[in-house]
Amino acid sequence: MLMLVFSDYQPQAERLAARLAMPTAKVDIHHFPDDESLVRLPPFLPEHVFICRSLNQPNNKLIELLFCARTARQLGAKRLTLIAPYLSYMRQDIANQPGEAVSQQIMGQMLAELFDDVITVDPHLHRITSLNQAIPINNAISLTAADEIARFLKQQRDYAVLLGPDSESEQWVLAIAKKIGFDFAVATKIRRGDKQVEMCLPDFDFSNQPVVIIDDMASTGRTLSKATELLLAAGAQHIDAVITHPLFCGDAQAHILQAGVKNIWSTDSISHPTACIYLDKLLAEAVRAVL
Ligand code: R5P
Repeated sequence: MLMLVFSDYQPQAERLAARLAMPTAKVDIHHFPDDESLVRLPPFLPEHVFICRSLNQPNNKLIELLFCARTARQLGAKRLTLIAPYLSYMRQDIANQPGEAVSQQIMGQMLAELFDDVITVDPHLHRITSLNQAIPINNAISLTAADEIARFLKQQRDYAVLLGPDSESEQWVLAIAKKIGFDFAVATKIRRGDKQVEMCLPDFDFSNQPVVIIDDMASTGRTLSKATELLLAAGAQHIDAVITHPLFCGDAQAHILQAGVKNIWSTDSISHPTACIYLDKLLAEAVRAVL
């Protein structure tokens, strides 16, 4: 077995490989001036190859993944396992207007054609319940970081109210709150545009309470900022946030801090300065289970 690692996800992949006592090799990527990618794998591969790379900022990474997987097969890999803790293009699961590409299905089909196993963490599945409805293979494995987040939060706080900013976040907030016995509440959100978010807090007394907002991802940060604004107006004492996938595009992080969040903590599913909740143990258990 061998784990192929990429420079943008190397520390996480190396941690995981070390846990599994699996050798690693680097995939070299050269970007030409016109932004085409040259992908170079080690020329000799074992039968079972793991490719470990999160798929945030996905457009270049997806074409590189395609080249990587097809080349690995040509070089003799019989089984290919993708470990992508963040899986992009999962949110567009229907055509909202006629003619729109349903990226979840198209991406899922592509991954199913390339890989024997796909392992990811808390993918954003809204209208489907299991990952293999999007990626039609038996080993489409969706893990949750809820245990890791719960353990981390328990080390940070004796008590806090956990707030999910929208109905989709309820699954994670509920799971984490149950594990550590914190109260939780879920807001309702309407997204009017990329950076336009309307929200209503639930009927809960937040005054003088420490609150931790829990969400699966922060992209523009507007969801977290809006929740923070409303919580402060409702008298919350102190607001932190835990994010599974820290996409943090553009001014997102600054916007959230400016709104009044004190600490932003995230998992290392994406390389980011806020990443302090490591997923290697969770991923290693999943890898052992597929072997
Ligand atoms: C949406 O349902 C997700 O759970 C997140 O709340 C959302 O993607 C966050 O996006 P943004 O940071 O752009 O508000």
